[in-house]
Amino acid sequence: MDPATIITTREDAVMVIRLNRPEVLNAISTQLMRELIDALEEADRDAALRCIILTGSEKAFAAGADIKEMAGATSVDMLLRDQFARWGRIRKTKKPIIAAVAGFALGGGCELAMACDIILAAETARFSQPEINIGVMPGAGGTQRLTRAVGKFKAMEMVLTGRMITADEAFRLGLVNKVVPAEALLDEARTWALEIASKPPLAVRLAKESVLAAYETTLDGGLEFERKNFYLLFSSEDQKEGMRSFAEKRPPHWTGR
Ligand code: CAA
Repeated sequence: MDPATIITTREDAVMVIRLNRPEVLNAISTQLMRELIDALEEADRDAALRCIILTGSEKAFAAGADIKEMAGATSVDMLLRDQFARWGRIRKTKKPIIAAVAGFALGGGCELAMACDIILAAETARFSQPEINIGVMPGAGGTQRLTRAVGKFKAMEMVLTGRMITADEAFRLGLVNKVVPAEALLDEARTWALEIASKPPLAVRLAKESVLAAYETTLDGGLEFERKNFYLLFSSEDQKEGMRSFAEKRPPHWTGR
């Protein structure tokens, strides 16, 4: 097995996960995905952690799935390995994940960023779904998440031509939340993460689930899911504390219960 392909650090209530295969621009190998999912599961189990930042290097967030690992595979190999099914676990992470993207976010790298909840981009960030150039197509959510994020026509352009877009274009298309100078990227991500970490955790969790449900259900079903989550929060101490502190004109103290 290769050395660890990710580096995790804890900063108060925030876990920072850095993809760490710089020699191949953080190409996403099976090992990297396994280690990433293990780290996300650990973060989910740890009540003291409230938000996750996922980042790469200055040159690459991730330049895609590991092409060399897949190149010789047959369809049957791919089906039996079913390595991209594991990516679904990212979507199941309960705590918010902020992607802090500098440099290349290509193919699986773009798909990985889109599997997160918020995307902050350095001015150097470049996004594309270039799989068409190597004889395939996106296989880890690109055709679905990109289309939902930027609409049919821009998604078609990116998926059919493999063209790369800049951070500013990604921002204009609604693919990223904010663009900042490269040297400010991690500080910006920390600011967002700490702000989210300061909110009542149960409400954050159910709010994230509810927004994600908007992608997967009818409007009626989504509204019902949202409403029930809203009602559910009225059994929490944090709802009582939040509304009481408002009336008492003081800051709330969250317990996460
Ligand atoms: N898989 C494996 N290795 C990769 C890689 C990838 N996706 N991307 C880059 N690398 C490796 C290169 O092979 C190279 O290794 P060597 O030094 O051993 O030759 C090293 O990283 C540095 O890359 P380059 O020399 O190519 O760097 P560059 O600055 O000249 O070019 C680049 C950068 C434009 C990102 C170019 O590396 C590139 O086009 N990479 C592939 C991008 C791609 O096609 N991604 C999609 C992958 S398929 C996928 O993701 C499927 C899916 O939907 C899940």
